[in-house]
Amino acid sequence: MKNTFGQSISVTIFGESHGMAIGAVIDGMCPGIEIDNEYIRDALSKRRPSTMADTQRAEKDNFQILSGVFEGKTTGTPIAIVIPNEDTRSKDYSKIKSVARPAHADYTAECKYHGYQDYRGGGHFSGRVTAAIVAVGAIMNMALKELNIKIGTHILSCGGVYDKEFSDIENEIDKLNEMSFPVLSDCEEKMMEKILLAKNDKDSVGGVLQTAIYGMPRGVGEPWFDSVESVLAHALFSVGGVKGIEFGKGFELSKMRGSQANDEMYISENKILTKTNNNGGINGGITNGMPIVFNTAIKPTPSIAQKQQTINFETNENTNIEIEGRHDPAIVRRACPVVNAISAICMCDLLAQRYGTDVFKKGI
Ligand SMILES: Cc1cc2nc3c(=O)[nH]c(=O)nc-3n(C[C@H](O)[C@H](O)[C@H](O)COP(=O)(O)O)c2cc1C
Repeated sequence: MKNTFGQSISVTIFGESHGMAIGAVIDGMCPGIEIDNEYIRDALSKRRPSTMADTQRAEKDNFQILSGVFEGKTTGTPIAIVIPNEDTRSKDYSKIKSVARPAHADYTAECKYHGYQDYRGGGHFSGRVTAAIVAVGAIMNMALKELNIKIGTHILSCGGVYDKEFSDIENEIDKLNEMSFPVLSDCEEKMMEKILLAKNDKDSVGGVLQTAIYGMPRGVGEPWFDSVESVLAHALFSVGGVKGIEFGKGFELSKMRGSQANDEMYISENKILTKTNNNGGINGGITNGMPIVFNTAIKPTPSIAQKQQTINFETNENTNIEIEGRHDPAIVRRACPVVNAISAICMCDLLAQRYGTDVFKKGI
C-alpha cells in the first residue's frame, strides 16, 4: 500500500511539510481505549525541535482528533487526527525547486510525480510528517498499556559517541520515556558536542537507536512474510533517514560461533526464558517471550549547508547547492519517539491479527 500500513489495525498518513496540515487515520482500533490528550501532547513534545541540535522551526503540534473518539474513549470507528502546520518558510525552498538535495528525496520525487510534487520543505518526504506517526503511536501505546506492554528507545551511538546497551529493560524503558534526550549512560553532553561540531562545520551526523519492546506475549507473528522482523522492518524503513535495522545482536551474530550466538533456554518459576537474548526475542518470525530488541541505523541529515555538487533536473545541468533553511544537524534524538511509535503500531497490528482487535480490552 502507498501510504497505508497494517492489516487488522491500519494507519494511513497524509500531508506535506508546508501544506495546511499533516495527519493520519487509524482504522480497526479496539473500542473503549481511554484517550489521554495530555499523553499525546507529551509524546509530540519529545519529537518537537527543542535543542540547539535540532531545526529551529517552531512546531506547536496543536493536534485535533476529528473522529473515532467519544467521551474520551475510542469508539472502534476510524480515528482521524489532524496537526496543522505552522512556522513554514516556503521561500527558503523556491530557489532550489529543481535543484536536488543530494541524498534527499527531491530527485526521486520528481521521477515519480513529474513536477507535481509539493517540494516545499521536502513535502510529503519531510521529517515533519513523522509528527502524525508519533500521535498515532501515542494512541497505540494507550492500547498496549492495557496489556502492560512497554516500548522504549535510546540513542546507542551518535557521531561516534556510544551509550551502554539495555540491561534492565523494564525499568530502563520507564526512565527513557521521561527523557527528551534518551540515553542510558552519561553520554548526552559528548553526543551534543559532536552534533554541534558538525553543525558548526555546516555538516551533520548520524547514529544508531536501540529499541526494546517489553511484555509481548510469546507466539505472535508469522513464519514467513509477516514475521515480526518483517513487519517491523517494513514499517521502520518507511521512516526517512532509516538505512539499517538489526535484530538482537544482528550483524555481530555472523561473527560468532553457534555456541556463543545461541540463547540457552531454562525454566524459572514455571516460565520459559533464555539466558541471553542475542536473537532479540524472535525465533522463526515469532515472539519467544523475551523482550524484542532491535537497532535502527539513522543516516546523517541530508540537508547540509556545505557546498555540494548536484544537478538541476529542469535544465538538465550540473550545478552546486548550498542548502539554506532550517534543518536538524542530527536526526537521531527526534527519531527516537518516531521509532517508538512505529513499534507500537506494529505490535498493535500483530496482536490484533492474532487475538482480534478487542484483545486490548478483553486481554489475552
Ligand atoms: C524526525 C526526522 C527529522 C528529519 N529532519 C530532516 C531535516 O531537517 N533535513 C533533512 O534534510 N532531512 C531530515 N530528515 C530525513 C529525511 O526525511 C530523509 O532523509 C528523506 O526523506 C530521504 O529519505 P531516506 O533518507 O530514507 O532515503 C528527517 C527525518 C526524521 C525522521
